[in-house]
Amino acid sequence: MAAASVLPVKLELPSTPIQELIKSNNTNQIPERYLINSTSESNGCVLPWMDSSIIIDLQHLLDFSSPCAQKELLKLRHALSSWGCFQLVNHGVASSLMDQLHYVGKEFFALTLEEKQKYSRTAEWFEGYGCDVVSEDQPINWNDRLHLRIHPPQQRNLKFWPEIVPNFRETLHEYSVEMRKVLEIMLRAIAKSLNLEENTFLSQLGEDSTFFARFNFYPPCQHPDRVVGLKPHSDGTLITILLQDKDVEGLQVLKDDQWYKVPVIPNALFINVGDQLEIMSNGILKSPVHRAMIDKQKERMSVAVPTSVAIDKEIGPLSELIDKDRPRLYKNVDNYLSTFLQHYARGERAINVMRIQQ
Ligand code: OGA
Ligand code: NI
Repeated sequence: MAAASVLPVKLELPSTPIQELIKSNNTNQIPERYLINSTSESNGCVLPWMDSSIIIDLQHLLDFSSPCAQKELLKLRHALSSWGCFQLVNHGVASSLMDQLHYVGKEFFALTLEEKQKYSRTAEWFEGYGCDVVSEDQPINWNDRLHLRIHPPQQRNLKFWPEIVPNFRETLHEYSVEMRKVLEIMLRAIAKSLNLEENTFLSQLGEDSTFFARFNFYPPCQHPDRVVGLKPHSDGTLITILLQDKDVEGLQVLKDDQWYKVPVIPNALFINVGDQLEIMSNGILKSPVHRAMIDKQKERMSVAVPTSVAIDKEIGPLSELIDKDRPRLYKNVDNYLSTFLQHYARGERAINVMRIQQ
């Protein structure tokens, strides 16, 4: 797919990587462009923890006729229609593979700037090494990233996959295969939890479904309440599968106007609904607003795998989920990614423009 047909907007070129900014900044002055309007609610210490009961066991979702599957599906439905997210355990992805992925990601960010810049993204397409996409009036996130398309395999842009890091390519490839398996099982279970035919979402994926891997690197900051790692946003995806940093927390989720800290559960994958699934489920499942905060002392790295239907595919609420008690809440849209990016860059939620005014 030609990048230009997907991205009608030019992306801002990557700004100075945060890693470089803190190296050259002896006085600990944070440049204006990175400062957020800090409010008392951004103080992470006083926030409650997200409900730790929202843990889903994938092994219970493999056979829907088993007695534990029914209970797990109810739990899943509850989690996704209230929080929009959960922690997935017993998912079958080897902990050694998750550790290895984390390791090769960290090795990439430990390269010299010159080496990393060989993989820099351009203003045309958002794959590669760089920063998040923000418009000029928005604070820049305290986040360096390496963003790679991992699926479909024939659309990988290997020039952005750092060959210089030993085992990087093999590890990410192996992890992609595992992500595809987890996605399939979860989409079946999500459909089932909504009393839909189990292939409902899977059949929408198609051959060209799009997954990325986003290595998010968050250097520490002396004044963590004056910057934000990732500003509040929802994801423009079907679902996002996040491998958190084992040692450093930072992810927070908004529910009923209250921010909650997401605990790190060793070896769990954190999964959240994205806007595409909220639209397809006619609003039954919630695409939660979340953000990433910065640690004062420690760097943090997460690996997000955003999964989406084929970029140019039309999506809309499923007819099975529209009735007179639940009228259609969203319009149909093709190329949601493009709409998403334009709003995301401005710090707005794209899904709001998809809503049908009742
Ligand atoms: C994302 C995201 C959270 C994190 O990449 O979209 O929300 O903890 N990441 O890095
Ligand atoms: Ni996100």
